[in-house]
Amino acid sequence: MAEAFNDKVLTGDKAARYAEVADEIASVLDGETNLTARMATVASMLASSFDHYFWTGFYVVDPLKERELVVGPYQGTLGCLRIAYGRGVCGAAAATGQTQLVEDVHAFPGHIACDGRSQSEIVVPVFDAAGELLAVFDVDSDKPAAFDTVDQAGIERILQATFG
Ligand code: SME
Repeated sequence: MAEAFNDKVLTGDKAARYAEVADEIASVLDGETNLTARMATVASMLASSFDHYFWTGFYVVDPLKERELVVGPYQGTLGCLRIAYGRGVCGAAAATGQTQLVEDVHAFPGHIACDGRSQSEIVVPVFDAAGELLAVFDVDSDKPAAFDTVDQAGIERILQATFG
């Protein structure tokens, strides 16, 4: 009973914080059309809003390469520079166009360990207004199973509002 209640309270708090930071991001970016500025702001504001975020950033579709992502704005330790579609968690999100929620990165086939401290992650594809894949947004945690469907809904909503 108490556990269920506490879980609910925690879930409620996290969902509320996502709603709050969504408004804050929209307010900061009002009138700003530059894509790098928009991505940098989303990465910075989300990374500083949640303790369970360890690495936070974008891998952007490289228009000069065939099915390859290149690192974009991020907060955290040094990230890998390039990821092919289909490789690791980011590559899976790019190849399928679907959010990847990974409780244990070590159990994910082909996971790319840019920083050995990463234990779990969520990667959400980012689409533009025309529905074209623009990037993927990758959040890693140094704790196992740090992300759930509340994170997924919160992040997907912010990315859709900011880039869709
Ligand atoms: N974890 C990612 C690689 C990117 S970094 O962790 C910054 C993956 O397997 O796609």
